[in-house]
Amino acid sequence: MVEIRTAAQPSAAVREERLWQRHIEMAKLGATAKGGVNRQALSPEDAAARRLLAAWAAARGFTVSTDAIGNLFVRYEGQDPAAAPVLTGSHMDSQPTGGRFDGIYGVLAGFEALEAFVDAGLRLRRPVELVAWMNEEGSRFQPGAMGSAVFAGGLALDAALAITDRAGVSVAEALRQTLAAAPVPQRPALGGPVAAYIEAHIEQGPRLEAEKRTIGVVTGIQGQRRYTVDVVGEEAHAGTTPRAARKDALSAAVAIVAALEQLMADPADTVRFTVGRFEVHPGSPNTVPGRVHFTVDFRHPEAAVLAERGDRIAAVAARHAKGCAVTVAEISRVAPTAFAPLVIDLVRDCAARLGYANMDMPSGAGHDAMHVARIAPAGMIFVPCWRGISHNEAENATPADLAAGARVLTEALASLANA
Ligand code: GLV
Ligand code: MN
Ligand code: MN
Repeated sequence: MVEIRTAAQPSAAVREERLWQRHIEMAKLGATAKGGVNRQALSPEDAAARRLLAAWAAARGFTVSTDAIGNLFVRYEGQDPAAAPVLTGSHMDSQPTGGRFDGIYGVLAGFEALEAFVDAGLRLRRPVELVAWMNEEGSRFQPGAMGSAVFAGGLALDAALAITDRAGVSVAEALRQTLAAAPVPQRPALGGPVAAYIEAHIEQGPRLEAEKRTIGVVTGIQGQRRYTVDVVGEEAHAGTTPRAARKDALSAAVAIVAALEQLMADPADTVRFTVGRFEVHPGSPNTVPGRVHFTVDFRHPEAAVLAERGDRIAAVAARHAKGCAVTVAEISRVAPTAFAPLVIDLVRDCAARLGYANMDMPSGAGHDAMHVARIAPAGMIFVPCWRGISHNEAENATPADLAAGARVLTEALASLANA
């Protein structure tokens, strides 16, 4: 029997098996022994992912380009090439011990949507561009969501290019190496205009699975503030230096973290507070530590709580310095994001029309959509992930759920691109 696809239902051209196979192929780039992925921003593995996506795009006749901060664009031309494009996408970089779906799903779902448009013979009024945003994770270069922040004007290009990793390599240098390994034409300009943006992503939490829903209609993203804390004391001999004479940077840093845990105490368990990196120097068993560097990731859905508690971090740190010098630097601040009702309603309608059980929900995780939402109507589509496990090599999702999200994305993009 010949399947008839009408222009009104481009999602009928979404192919679950093709989308799944593309995940399998991408997961080989940076594959870890435990079944996850280590594909940090602007690494050789990231360059390989860019080459693969660009090759797939060329094979389908899409145009590929990059901007000055290394965001990678795949364009399906519109009937009106001068119209502002509708954007979709996510990121291809991963955590050091990341999973096979965080970020890459949104890129591959977007690519599947473009393929579905071609396979359905559907030309849309506006161009649709898939974007692989540079450095969403922020584990090598801080802060994360860097490419989308620069694109949307929330972070200056020069400032971003000057940021260095722990080995002292700048974003500018790593980007030069990446583009040399994965060359694509440069776009003439950075940034918009953008007609609308939708990002598909695994939920990274347990709610969809627990409530047996296939689609999360994302209403917004909680706000976040990130800091680095540097504690400088004095290196000294562990066997000879009396405790009273020490300036032990580790002892001070531990007291600071304990005090920050108190500051962030929240009976409602809404505050998110994480010290994810903690480095002790020189790291020798018989030398009193002279220097500690650690990070703070603080999130909350309410701007007032973010402001009030975040603003107290430096004073709390200073009070527990134990004679050491303490420097607290805020390296990024993103206000809570409310997505556009237009996009939220569209995602909900598309999910319902396709017969998928769905629910409205906020996002606890940060996403590139939080920056793009400052310059265009934006929204997100979540699909379930196994036990809500993410930022973990065990991250998992089913081919059927991934395809369901891609179908909702395809319908929503088609609607926005014909508006
Ligand atoms: C993104 O990975 C985040 O930290 O929320
Ligand atoms: Mn992500
Ligand atoms: Mn992530």
